[in-house]
Amino acid sequence: MQQKNFSKSEIAAHYNEFHDLYEKWSGSGHGGYHFGIMKKWTDLFSNDRMVFNMSNKIISHIPKKENQVILEAGCGSAYVGQLVINARENASVIGITLSERQAHTANAREKKVKKAPNVRVGNFEKTVFADETFDVVIFIDSLCHGTGPAKKAAVEETSRLLKPGGTLIFADVFLKEVPKLGDKWYHFINTKVFDLWKVSQWTEEKQWKKILSQNQIMIVTDENMTWKIVPSVLHLFFIKFPTSVIAYIIGRGDKKEMQYLFTAAIFAPLVGLHPYFRYKIITAKKIHNV
Ligand SMILES: C[S@@+](CC[C@H](N)C(=O)[O-])C[C@H]1O[C@@H](n2cnc3c(N)ncnc32)[C@H](O)[C@@H]1O
Repeated sequence: MQQKNFSKSEIAAHYNEFHDLYEKWSGSGHGGYHFGIMKKWTDLFSNDRMVFNMSNKIISHIPKKENQVILEAGCGSAYVGQLVINARENASVIGITLSERQAHTANAREKKVKKAPNVRVGNFEKTVFADETFDVVIFIDSLCHGTGPAKKAAVEETSRLLKPGGTLIFADVFLKEVPKLGDKWYHFINTKVFDLWKVSQWTEEKQWKKILSQNQIMIVTDENMTWKIVPSVLHLFFIKFPTSVIAYIIGRGDKKEMQYLFTAAIFAPLVGLHPYFRYKIITAKKIHNV
């Protein structure tokens, strides 16, 4: 199976092209373009609620210190960044995304709120920020877009940007082992998801953790969330996709939305059920130089 490598401009083009749909699905201000978790059973009917719960869970890992400078790496329209500002009043949040449209949407919010994240178009593998600028760096469903299975460039750059003692938070897909070339079923379903989301390779946990330790980063917590994101995947399958089909049939829908949701609702759960797959929240610290 040939490995596709999506360029940064192809990833940016995807988020620009699907900007309006992602905003429609997640633009309530409740927390972004990522998987969600259920706190009570009624959340199952509200993707917003589940995404919001996940955002808050991730934010709870940010230390409660004064005047922190926080980077949201791969920030979408910075809905999580906005929640971070609301939760940690003295914090300054900078977001970077490859998508000009997301940056524009995020920065337009500045006029509506007291304090907003400052969002720039940039590549988290090579940024313009000075060494040791940030107290906290957060990656939510964005590390997967980084280069290679160990995400070496993203880790090296993040280590450079973090202050010693600084905190790193990742929420993403991590592969338990390197997929076997002969595993045709896995490669078939996975390619559908990769083509849809413009991901070249998921992060392979062991290789990635080795790169972290080579870059003075030590894991602090490691939580397997695979089963906890199932309700948000079920929501996609049983509510979002059928709703888009009905809307299309009665002439109020959008073909592009329905096609996107078909692939996401069918193939993402199949990949998720595969034993290689895990969704995790991992936190880490940059150790002080000795
Ligand atoms: C699935 S979205 C997640 C957005 C956001 N973290 C959230 O949870 O709402 C992935 C984001 O990663 C960004 N991204 C992917 N690769 C990137 C890179 N190399 N540098 C900066 N941003 C990147 C995309 O532009 C997009 O905003």
